Amino acid sequence: MIAQTHSGEPDMNRSVEPSDLTLVQESMVQAAILAPSPDNNQPWKFKFSDQGVDVFLDPSRSLPSDEASMFDLTAIGAAVENAILGAAEYGCISEITCRDLDDATLQGQLPVASITIRPGGVPDPLFDAIESRCTCRKPYASGPLDTEVIEALNHSISSLPSVQVDWITSAAEKKQFGKLIAMTDSLRFRTEAFHAELFRQLRFKPSEVQATRDGLDVRTLELPFGVTTMLRTLKSWTVMQLVHRLRLTPLLTGPSKIAVQKSGAVAVVSVPAASTENFLIGGRAIQRIWLKAAQAGLSMHPLGSLPIFLLQSQPNPAFEKTIEIARRETSNLVPELGNRVIQLAFRVGKSGPPTERSIRRQVSSVMVQ
Ligand SMILES: Cc1cc2nc3c(=O)[nH]c(=O)nc-3n(C[C@H](O)[C@H](O)[C@H](O)COP(=O)(O)O)c2cc1C
Repeated sequence: MIAQTHSGEPDMNRSVEPSDLTLVQESMVQAAILAPSPDNNQPWKFKFSDQGVDVFLDPSRSLPSDEASMFDLTAIGAAVENAILGAAEYGCISEITCRDLDDATLQGQLPVASITIRPGGVPDPLFDAIESRCTCRKPYASGPLDTEVIEALNHSISSLPSVQVDWITSAAEKKQFGKLIAMTDSLRFRTEAFHAELFRQLRFKPSEVQATRDGLDVRTLELPFGVTTMLRTLKSWTVMQLVHRLRLTPLLTGPSKIAVQKSGAVAVVSVPAASTENFLIGGRAIQRIWLKAAQAGLSMHPLGSLPIFLLQSQPNPAFEKTIEIARRETSNLVPELGNRVIQLAFRVGKSGPPTERSIRRQVSSVMVQ
């Protein structure tokens, strides 16, 4: 797979001068680590190779809620895309080789993606948005997105034709999609392992954020005053179960439902089937759309629970009925999906900037020695 920058024909026989190679590789990794990841788990490791960068999955950072490593691969695909853009800044074109997930790749022994660079590329304007792109969980303006903006976002992934984006734009359909998100968010809150995962990833104090440089800084959640304190009490699974028993779960799922309903649009990103390569390419596409949206002054907020529960191969039997309803209603709402796999959905729209940005581990911590 040769990465498409808006370049001329790559010269496959030339290689990057050894004196420039390290500089380009460093630029690639610096860009890669700014990619988004589920709960900011940053599930990657990098190694400089003879002619590029190898990208490894770091299994110690995977989340129990991930299914078929779809979210880790989304993050790695996004990191690969950033690295490609970083290489293109130095006039390099990238070739990506993907290795299927097996014992060796899942245990981080072999790279899941190898990026080989050659002279022959030109900078891509999307590079400039790498630092400003972020998740924004504030409320968005509910006015519709301009058709030209949606077309520009679609166009940003024209070089990755296996990825499809379906847009939900009408008020009634956004409302319906918000209900589906609340439905699957509720399953997430009812699963003990996912509850533990959430509180393992949450960083309540700035000192914890600085110490780990990963996870969900609670300030990025844009919670109303006092709700952060309430959230702390929900760390106990016993208290969380009580919330469910008292039928108070809608208090937890309601804000996202309304946020989706009141956004400019919902983007549903899908790939033809579940596979390592498809998810990597899907991750690359997601990053390109997100960068393009950032350049257009639009905010984006991933909605992860629906894609994860729809992909579960062995769901909790108690959830099967709800998942089936969610699957049927999603198909009715987005018939263009057919048998495709939803990799991620987003609400998209105009908003103020996030109150706080999430930080990353240092480059030195993500290099394989
Ligand atoms: C595959 C994937 C799934 C995500 N799912 C959610 C989600 O369900 N809810 C949410 O608020 N953020 C979600 N996020 C956003 C991450 O929490 C965010 O990317 C990470 O904290 C880093 O922050 P940044 O995007 O601002 O750089 C997801 C991101 C990725 C890549």
